[in-house]
Amino acid sequence: MKNFAVIGVGRMGSKHAVNLAKGRVKGARLACICDVDKATREKCAAKCKTPAYADYKQMAEAEKLDAVVIATPHYSHVEIAKYFLTRGVAVLTEKPVSVTVEWAEELNEVARKSGALFGIMYNQRTNNVYAHVRELVKSGRLGAIRRANITVTDWYRSQFYYDMGGWRASWSGEGGGTLINQCVHQLDVMQWILGMPRSVTAVCRTVNRNITTENEVLANFAYKDFNAVFTASAHEVPGVNMMEIAGDRGLIKAGKFKADIYLLEKSEEEINALSRRDYGNKEDKKYKKYTVRYGLFRLIRDGLRGQQCNILCDFARVLNGGGKLLAPGEEGINGLQLINGVYASHWTGKQVALPLDGKAYTAMLKERAAGEKKGGC
Ligand SMILES: NC(=O)c1ccc[n+]([C@@H]2O[C@H](COP(=O)([O-])OP(=O)(O)OC[C@H]3O[C@@H](n4cnc5c(N)ncnc54)[C@H](O)[C@@H]3O)[C@@H](O)[C@H]2O)c1
Repeated sequence: MKNFAVIGVGRMGSKHAVNLAKGRVKGARLACICDVDKATREKCAAKCKTPAYADYKQMAEAEKLDAVVIATPHYSHVEIAKYFLTRGVAVLTEKPVSVTVEWAEELNEVARKSGALFGIMYNQRTNNVYAHVRELVKSGRLGAIRRANITVTDWYRSQFYYDMGGWRASWSGEGGGTLINQCVHQLDVMQWILGMPRSVTAVCRTVNRNITTENEVLANFAYKDFNAVFTASAHEVPGVNMMEIAGDRGLIKAGKFKADIYLLEKSEEEINALSRRDYGNKEDKKYKKYTVRYGLFRLIRDGLRGQQCNILCDFARVLNGGGKLLAPGEEGINGLQLINGVYASHWTGKQVALPLDGKAYTAMLKERAAGEKKGGC
């Protein structure tokens, strides 16, 4: 049984603490929690019946910890993760791993040298629908990819939400808006399925909110042989969450809970070669359709304890018995490359080649953070 601590027990961290305290994570127990805010700390400590600390360094001295879960605001992730990794304590950090590629690279280096287990809370990788889509793409069953469209407009966030915590939707507190906070999940899923693009061109907007960052994004991620168009917003009701991937051998239309899959009998290349009609031969365009679902059991389980608990369980499994993490911390940098690339493209009005220059991006972000003004990105 490994001793876990949760650092930062606000909205998300308190859920991790409860899951650990209730014994929902096999091979892990909640040893203590830490939060700089007294009221938040005391509330969580009382709920979980666990010791609480105000300072994570004092906690590290006082407790014998095997692992920490970091659920603090974004800028502090790297510093806290480095502190524990260098002491040989396993780290599971909330997303995003950092706010800049440069700092994520530094953290990856520390993790590599430490040899300690390092994971990231990319809970959407535990979605069986996305895992199936990934398998179809990686195995080549969908054929060469021709197009991807990802629309994520169901992360509705009100002004009330932004006003709840000072760090939210600011360049200095969060390192970005809806893209770095909410959409980091879908961008990770995109690169997990399709790999990394070669460049990005993007525009961002702030719609109907008094914040300094974006709450709307339109990005074109250019791959070697296709484009992935990514549309996101946090101001739309009811919102959409859809991923379409078209390949030479079929089409995937995937939502969060269900994917419709169309696999062609002949590839589009063959259909084109055989065609003696302007719109192609109908008999050559035949496909098989099937549907993959999230499933009632998963819906109920994840509804009760949160999808994030699946990553906690995966992390504890590897910490206890070895094997591979579903979401290694080192891969957190990929989503960050995409996010930093979108902001850099928006700020410069240019296409940004990926991987981007981390140092140059950090300098641009610092400039934004220093000149922070409400009224949009
Ligand atoms: N995986 C997910 O689906 C998911 C969902 C929501 C939030 N998150 C992530 O969780 C993290 C926290 O978000 P939140 O919404 O819970 O924020 P929050 O503001 O509700 O909680 C953050 C807590 O961290 C505490 N804190 C700040 N600095 C600290 C420090 N140095 N040491 C100890 N405690 C400190 C704050 O007092 C606060 O209680 C963010 O990285 C966010 O992106 C992830």
